[in-house]
Amino acid sequence: MSKQRVSRRQFLNYTLTGVGGFMAAGMLMPMVRFAVDPILSAEAAGDFKATKQKIDEITEKPVRVDFTYEQKDAWYTSDVTQTAWVYKDNKGEIVALSPVCKHLGCTVNWDGDKSNPNMFYCPCHGGLYEKSGKNVPGTPPTAPLDSYPVKEKDGLLYLGKPEPNKFVK
Ligand code: FES
Repeated sequence: MSKQRVSRRQFLNYTLTGVGGFMAAGMLMPMVRFAVDPILSAEAAGDFKATKQKIDEITEKPVRVDFTYEQKDAWYTSDVTQTAWVYKDNKGEIVALSPVCKHLGCTVNWDGDKSNPNMFYCPCHGGLYEKSGKNVPGTPPTAPLDSYPVKEKDGLLYLGKPEPNKFVK
C-alpha cells in the first residue's frame, strides 16, 4: 500500500480552491436569482386581475373599467393601473378592449368624436376604430385595438394580459 503525501503547496492549493469556489458560488447565486426572477414573474403575470366591474351590469354600451393590481419587478413592488373598454356583443359575449391606440399609444375613448358616433376615437391624430376594435382604414392606426382575455369569478370581471384582438377577423 502506497502512502502519498500531500505537500504543503498542494494542501494550500486545494484549500484555497475549495474556499474560493464556495465564495464565488455565494456571490453568484444571488446574481443568478436576481436575473432569473423577472422571467419567473413574467410567467405568473399570465394571471387574471380582478376588476370591480359586475358581470351582470355589463351592457352593449362600452364602459371604461379601471383596475389596479400589485406588480413585482424583481425586488420592487408597485401598484399598476390599467384600463379596458368593456361591453357585451350581440351574442352576449363579453368584449374587453385595450384603450391603447395602435398608432402612437394615446388613449382612445368611446364616442369621443361627435362627428363619428359609436366608435372608438383617438384624439391625438384622429384615429378611429369600430366597436369591435377594428381600425378604420384611412385613419392613422394600422392595427385593431388589443383585447383582454376575460373571466368571471364571484360575479366580477377578471382580465388577463392584452393580446391581439380576437374579435376582428
Ligand atoms: S396615437 Fe392614436 S391616432 Fe395617433
